[in-house]
Amino acid sequence: MKNVLITGGCGFIGANFIHLIRSRHPDCRLVNLDKLTYAGSLKNLSGLEDDPRYRFVQGDICDGELVNCLFSEEKIDTVVHFAAESHVDRSIDGPAEFIRTNIMGTFTLLEAARKMWIPDPSPVTRHASRFLHVSTDEVYGSLGETGYFKETTPYDPRSPYSASKASSDHLASAYHHTYGLPVVITNCSNNYGPFQFPEKLIPLMIDNALHGKDLPVYGDGKNVRDWLYVEDHCSAILEVLQKGKPGETYNIGGNNEKQNLEIVMTICDLLDEMAPPLPDGRKRTSLIRFVTDRPGHDRRYAIDAVKIREEIGWEPSVTFEEGIRKTVRWYLENREWVEAVLDGSYREYYSKKYGK
Ligand code: NAD
Ligand code: DAU
Repeated sequence: MKNVLITGGCGFIGANFIHLIRSRHPDCRLVNLDKLTYAGSLKNLSGLEDDPRYRFVQGDICDGELVNCLFSEEKIDTVVHFAAESHVDRSIDGPAEFIRTNIMGTFTLLEAARKMWIPDPSPVTRHASRFLHVSTDEVYGSLGETGYFKETTPYDPRSPYSASKASSDHLASAYHHTYGLPVVITNCSNNYGPFQFPEKLIPLMIDNALHGKDLPVYGDGKNVRDWLYVEDHCSAILEVLQKGKPGETYNIGGNNEKQNLEIVMTICDLLDEMAPPLPDGRKRTSLIRFVTDRPGHDRRYAIDAVKIREEIGWEPSVTFEEGIRKTVRWYLENREWVEAVLDGSYREYYSKKYGK
């Protein structure tokens, strides 16, 4: 792990990962390739600009020429592939960009790695390289009230987003089986924490509740997600990079299932405690509104994380109670960041989706 290409490093998880790897592996060269879509921000990485072992390249993972050039110029031996269109609701409104970035972009990166690494006559170099494809538990579909997603659970994606991620997982896995590319795949549950774009449930609810706006809960609010603090996800990825076996998949989860309504109520209570009260003195739970459900809304996700615990020795370290408190505090203390990422295009998306 000398020259690491990180794709999507200006997004939520990618930026947290760059901060973590920088602190734990100060000698690695880090190359961050990010297109800077609405979801990416250079502000997520402020402080790194002058680091001589860090390079930011604004570009598209679908641009084969650029990707090939970076591989050879930077002698890339490790890829951590985060870049993706990541929001389910946007994939329902407009799937095309998800197909392009998530499938074609992954294909482009795999091709570059194949060309660069496979003809390498030195087994040492070849064994030292890794392509870590960051994926999601959504590829496994939706659970009823019981059961867990294991690495062996058949794929059953149900949104354009999860179908595009499933497709990219299959491509990554095929490149291992067919060409011997040292691919490792991680499938993680819902993340939360600093730098998450405020279109996703937790930061959206924090921002709306802070300002006394409606809190739009889809359907009956009883859909379940397994929440993991983002730094724990990043530490799992680092561990898998070092100890994971090529060709293997590792599920990553928080052992922390919650219904959406419970999450929203927790955020309201924390804000009542930590932020100035609403002008009319009402409790923030009074802002909750049940709205039309997401089409094809998956009911429950839950991860069986036994494999990563037993084979890699990784477990989450942050409890939900700690993590959600830290997250609310971060969004209260970083109002400038929130205002900066919520540009005009996001406000337009928001009013189109949720109305006034
Ligand atoms: P995000 O939307 O916050 O960030 C995505 C980043 O990718 C942005 O910086 C964006 O500019 C960049 N990007 C998008 N298209 C690009 C392109 N064509 N070329 C180069 N860069 C491009 O996403 P996130 O939440 O940080 O998720 C990162 C990865 O982790 C994704 O692959 C996602 O599927 C996966 N994942 C996310 C979660 C979660 O809860 N957020 C959970 C499991 C897995
Ligand atoms: O499971 C991992 C996935 O988690 C990642 O692969 C995705 O990139 C990430 O976006 C996330 O997907 P979800 O669809 O689960 O996350 P989201 O924050 O959009 O929604 C979480 C739950 O909250 C879901 O059941 C829908 C609900 N929800 C969401 C929004 C934005 C609401 O009830 N109201 C809302 O306004």
